[in-house]
Amino acid sequence: MNPKDWIDVTIEKNHYSMDHFVIPHHYEKDISSILIPHGVIMDRIKKLARLIVDDTPGPLVVCCVLKGGHQYFADLVNEIKKLCRHNGSSVQLSLEFIRVKSYTNDTQSGVKISLTDAELEEFKGKNLLIVEDIIDTGNTMVYLLERLSKIQPASIRVTSLLIKKTERSNGYVPDYVGFAIPDDFVVGYALDYNEHFRDLDHICVISDEGKQKYAV
Ligand code: IMP
Repeated sequence: MNPKDWIDVTIEKNHYSMDHFVIPHHYEKDISSILIPHGVIMDRIKKLARLIVDDTPGPLVVCCVLKGGHQYFADLVNEIKKLCRHNGSSVQLSLEFIRVKSYTNDTQSGVKISLTDAELEEFKGKNLLIVEDIIDTGNTMVYLLERLSKIQPASIRVTSLLIKKTERSNGYVPDYVGFAIPDDFVVGYALDYNEHFRDLDHICVISDEGKQKYAV
């Protein structure tokens, strides 16, 4: 996807005050601001679903990258299904889940994938859409794509809700991106910090207090 087609979320224009939205009481001190409110995320996903359906002959195997991608995956699949019901365009979907773990605290600590080579073999000859929450360095996705391309799917496309604007990027850019975000550690909408904050609806910037409280 061309960067001009992303929504570029900047610190200056965004970072809504927590007073303007409802957030769970238990996280009040743990985030410093709201970067992307939940309603904006949902509206953007409608558009991403449309772009994907318009490009896809189907059938499509939609692969959720767990755990962080599960909320985006669920909402994206719902939107694709709505389009198939109402627009006449119809893409048959099947759903798969890959667990990938790559962070402890806020630094990368190696990539682990839950599927064995035999399980990955199921994807041979299929059209795959990988659904990820965030591309930071790009290392996780490049590693996953290397593993997947060895089993020769018919096609592989990737959508990530977020891409981080960081000097650590390896240059990888997904086919469909929701928002480009600043180089901050973000949580909420299923993105976690050591398994916390997945139950927060908005995408938020974690505070120093939150980082300390939930460090392992
Ligand atoms: P990458 O390999 O550096 O691109 O990192 C990708 C993975 O790291 C994502 O799937 C997330 O699980 C995790 N990650 C990277 N940045 C963040 C963040 O700001 N918040 C939460 N998780 C993140």
